[in-house]
Amino acid sequence: MTTKEEYARGKKVKVGVTDLTKCYDELLVLDDINFEIYDGEMLCIVGPTGCGKTTFLNTLARFIPATRGDILVDGTPSDPRRHNIAFVFQEVSSIPWLSVEDNIRFGLRIKRLPADEIERRVETMLELVGLKPFRRNFPQELSSSMEQRVVIARNFALNPDLLLMDEPYGQLDIKLRYYLEDELIRIWNELKSTVLFVTHNIEEAVYLGQRILVLSNKPAKIKEEIIVDLPRPRKFDDPEFVKIREHVTESIRWW
Ligand SMILES: Nc1ncnc2c1ncn2[C@@H]1O[C@H](COP(=O)(O)OP(=O)(O)O)[C@@H](O)[C@H]1O
Ligand SMILES: [Mg+2]
Repeated sequence: MTTKEEYARGKKVKVGVTDLTKCYDELLVLDDINFEIYDGEMLCIVGPTGCGKTTFLNTLARFIPATRGDILVDGTPSDPRRHNIAFVFQEVSSIPWLSVEDNIRFGLRIKRLPADEIERRVETMLELVGLKPFRRNFPQELSSSMEQRVVIARNFALNPDLLLMDEPYGQLDIKLRYYLEDELIRIWNELKSTVLFVTHNIEEAVYLGQRILVLSNKPAKIKEEIIVDLPRPRKFDDPEFVKIREHVTESIRWW
């Protein structure tokens, strides 16, 4: 078992969250959350439905204000104008009137990147998600898993400081989910992005994460931090995998 100290050795902190608290009027949803995300890390957050996961990501992205607490990116307070935080929502969110390649270009144009840099990134991402043959198609002409790949490509293309993913595969059937999880790992390996992946699915968290933060029921607190030191590709029926999955299940016990 890798200890927290061993895990942190040589890693650079990308995002630091201290005392993060969120209330909607009287309703306390996030209760004093403290943690760090390391540069280039694949960090999973797992917690029961309704515990505050989406609220948590929305406050990290500054879509909604925190009631209390600090979020630092590279040591400075997180600021949408300065930092590049990308978000993959629970609902598939490609832009219906833009072709596959224009979906990927969209955010890059908003960022006013040089044209040749935009084209370079578009080509890289089309290649990485295998959508080159469909570059001129529109989202409604694609299957839901292909559309989800457009969304992933669009977000990774931004080369974000932090990519937040809110149960992106929750609505898909299991085969597609496995396929997209493998693709996510492949792209993340290639681009070394810092990813915070939120799910209520324990198996998915153990399959993807280098580290897992387990949230409690509402109000959400971090109950436990688990380092998943399994080699990749991971196997769902590997006894070590099963052991960690059972440990996380035990830690959550939301039923
Ligand atoms: N805008 C809002 N106003 C009031 N309450 C909200 C709002 N958004 C979410 N909540 C409540 O906060 C809790 C956590 O919701 P959410 O963050 O969506 O959880 P999760 O994503 O883990 O399912 C729920 O009880 C929900 O009803
Ligand atoms: Mg949610």
